[in-house]
Amino acid sequence: MPKLTYFKRHRMELDLRHPRPPAELPPGFFWLPWNPNLLEHHARVLCAGFAGETDALVFSSLATLPGCRDLMHAIVGLAGFCPPATWIAARAGCCVGSVQGVLDASGFGGVQNLGVVADHRGLGLGRALLLKALDGFAAAGARRAFLEVTATNAPAVRMYRRLGFRAYKTIYRGVEVPPEPAAEVPAPRPLVVLTS
Ligand SMILES: CC(C)(COP(=O)(O)OP(=O)(O)OC[C@H]1O[C@@H](n2cnc3c(N)ncnc32)[C@H](O)[C@@H]1OP(=O)(O)O)[C@@H](O)C(=O)NCCC(=O)NCCS
Repeated sequence: MPKLTYFKRHRMELDLRHPRPPAELPPGFFWLPWNPNLLEHHARVLCAGFAGETDALVFSSLATLPGCRDLMHAIVGLAGFCPPATWIAARAGCCVGSVQGVLDASGFGGVQNLGVVADHRGLGLGRALLLKALDGFAAAGARRAFLEVTATNAPAVRMYRRLGFRAYKTIYRGVEVPPEPAAEVPAPRPLVVLTS
């Protein structure tokens, strides 16, 4: 029987007018800017980046490829979808991380679904993706950025804090969690990038 579990999450914010480091990828990686033809790649890297993570329990759509596809369609269909803050980090033949951006009604930039596939973490890709999204929000005219992060996600919380994000609000999200692992979560795997 599913058990109602509450996940503590922080809303963190950052003033985009403050200086920040440049968004630089490690050697051998390159940027793929948003392009509607890349929706499937975003969905795949999103699914791989969140495979087995707590956030895939908190948001069940992150746990499956169809769910990630639906999520991507929902994001790009929003009036506030922000292409300049939506990026894939790639290396030859593979997508290894992604982020999407959405502007809210106040014109704040919301960082969505920042994720890096497990075997490429710790290389500076997450930080670079975050900074690239922040640059995109600033270019789109936003003065402030925000995100939500699960409180137990220590690597992510630490990364956001080190780049200047501060917690402004705590949110508890109730989720019906099955006693057994919810669904088959695909193992993280490299993704072939079509170059057309
Ligand atoms: C959070 C995440 C995106 C970080 O990506 P990453 O590519 O590993 O991060 P980076 O290599 O750019 O490291 C960024 C910072 O976090 C630190 N860090 C990375 N992994 C860490 C870990 N496991 N433990 C502690 N610190 C860690 C790094 O030291 C670095 O700090 P620095 O810039 O001060 O040196 C990645 O862990 C991830 O995809 N997690 C699963 C999805 C997720 O939870 N996303 C966040 C949703 S809010």
